Amino acid sequence: MFSVDAINKTSEQQYLAVKGSCQLSGHLKVSGAKNSALVLMAASLLTEEKVELKNIPSLTDIDFMSTILIKMGVEINRELHTLFINPKEFYDVTLPGELVHCLRASFFCIGPMLARLGKAKIPLPGGCQIGSRPVDEHIKGLKALGACIKTEKDMITANILDGNKRLKGANITLNYPSVGATETILMAATLAEGTTTIQNAAQEPEVKDLINMLNSMGALITGEGSPILKIEGVRKLNGCSHTAIPDRIEAGTFLIAAAITRSNLLVGPVIKEHLTSVLEKLKECGCEIIEEKENYLKIIPKEIKGVDITTSPFPGFPTDLQAPFMALMTTAKGKSTITETVFEKRMQHVKELQRMGANIQLNGSIALIEGSDQLKGTNLTGGDLRSCAAIALASLSSEGQSIIKGLHHLDRGYEKFEQKLNKAGANISRNQSRVNKNVQLKNELGMHHKLGIKQEAA
Ligand code: UD1
Repeated sequence: MFSVDAINKTSEQQYLAVKGSCQLSGHLKVSGAKNSALVLMAASLLTEEKVELKNIPSLTDIDFMSTILIKMGVEINRELHTLFINPKEFYDVTLPGELVHCLRASFFCIGPMLARLGKAKIPLPGGCQIGSRPVDEHIKGLKALGACIKTEKDMITANILDGNKRLKGANITLNYPSVGATETILMAATLAEGTTTIQNAAQEPEVKDLINMLNSMGALITGEGSPILKIEGVRKLNGCSHTAIPDRIEAGTFLIAAAITRSNLLVGPVIKEHLTSVLEKLKECGCEIIEEKENYLKIIPKEIKGVDITTSPFPGFPTDLQAPFMALMTTAKGKSTITETVFEKRMQHVKELQRMGANIQLNGSIALIEGSDQLKGTNLTGGDLRSCAAIALASLSSEGQSIIKGLHHLDRGYEKFEQKLNKAGANISRNQSRVNKNVQLKNELGMHHKLGIKQEAA
């Protein structure tokens, strides 16, 4: 049954004690992709038939998304890493603001709600720690498909006025290749009347994963992996069984963990093409990378030297790995420049790395780093998911012990983070004082009465 322990892991009051000067060895197992899993769960709302989603990581973000779907009447059961979703019952409930704010990806439900129910009422997700994150491109796309959308007091109300309650295909050009907007429009357009094209679409592997799932449900989408997508609307989608892709961001985090601790490690499973830009930078800074057993990567770090990175949409260097890579650069020989172009406030780790002795000068979204010989462990707080991972990696390589708070961020996106690293030789313990607001929220929603979750070893 649902483990309250698992919820407790989200505690804002928990902290990690990380012993530095760590040497890793063996292999680190990569879970299913969080960012795929969340949108695949939303896509299951597009059918009345049963959907089986495999390789779904055990994360608090997945628990929040499950809670949201359950609130809409959907039945969800979980067995290890498989979700069994029965979306036959599906109501247009107004999602509570606190849930939508906890999980921005809940906004994904707007596309399926409009496509299947003809209406949706959903709070604006608002900004977050890494930037303002507007949803104007999502809304522009849905309006182009014929939805009537009103925003009042941070609440979005969307309706299809057409008597047939079907959206209508349209040509949509995104101003920016937004991952979320591409996914929202894709989901809405699958059940629309006629053909939709999305120009300047996001090419991230998670978008391709969504398209593969939708096509296996009977959607007619072409152009996956390219910036132009074409969707021929269909009247109905079937159920399906779909396996989420491996998490390229978790894989990248583990490869950087090997590099920062100067340890040889095997990381997988991965889809190597999803990591091309990251592997290029790891090689450039002094790591040897060898493909093993088809979908595993062996990393052998040599002398690490400073290299420059600039984040950009796929296939560029992922913004989600900017913070971990910066941690690595603080231990490199020489200078590096890291430029963040995707999210305007994604530099929260800089202050924490500086507190460990890193030499970083921050000018807006550009960080100039001079590598130092040895960071020092100290008391640290992760301000967002990836900055939390970055300071944990820095702590593994530093001198002495670090205490890391802000684990409610870490637990959103890394399954069994410290257990996996400990298996490879790290010395990280998790300590807890008291239950937090997330736990209360989930308890109030009665989620643990409805979800059957079994835990699986890392
Ligand atoms: C997704 C990922 C996130 C990743 C990001 C970029 C999920 C659940 N999250 O987030 O981990 O870091 O892609 O790879 O999949 N923007 C607008 N208007 C919009 C939408 C986006 O201006 O309507 C801007 C955002 O503020 C941001 C940029 O576009 O500056 C990229 O955002 P987007 O690609 O949409 O990221 P998300 O889908 O939110």
